[in-house]
Amino acid sequence: MDAPEHSHNNKKHIALTVNGEKVEADIDARMTLAEFLREGLDLTGTKVGCNRGECGSCTVILDGVAVYSCTMLAVEAEGKEVLTIEGMGDGKALHPLQQAFIEHDALQCGYCTPGMLLSIVALLQQNPQPTYDDVRRAIDGNLCRCGSYLNIIDAALDASAKMARKGRG
Ligand code: FES
Ligand code: FES
Repeated sequence: MDAPEHSHNNKKHIALTVNGEKVEADIDARMTLAEFLREGLDLTGTKVGCNRGECGSCTVILDGVAVYSCTMLAVEAEGKEVLTIEGMGDGKALHPLQQAFIEHDALQCGYCTPGMLLSIVALLQQNPQPTYDDVRRAIDGNLCRCGSYLNIIDAALDASAKMARKGRG
């Protein structure tokens, strides 16, 4: 007879940092990182579009690298640092990239936006002065069904220029 769906044997303890806060939980070992963020921590800014590694709406930053949280298990984030869209601003002001998205009309329905922002933040952390092609490559894995790509790239370049002027990498 098969083990019940949520058998206790499948529970795992994880400890990680999410948006600068230490988090510990006992979770189903098969839970994806996206499920853990959304259902376990109520961080629903991470969107799940395809749930199979194709659209990028679930993108978060894991130890400085943009990853699809729908195709990773939460247990794979053990001991690591996760940044989600909720951790992007400083709680009072928008991040310069978020501000640039507004100024450049870089979103329509907004479903791809959290993933787009985080893919670009990961790029800017590695490469504060990206070229047009650098940005295009960084969002290669992020699908925008509304076709806002050109505005998204403009926003990224504008934000990187403003951040450089302010001395923010
Ligand atoms: S929801 Fe993860 S890549 Fe589409
Ligand atoms: S703004 Fe609608 S999917 Fe990108």
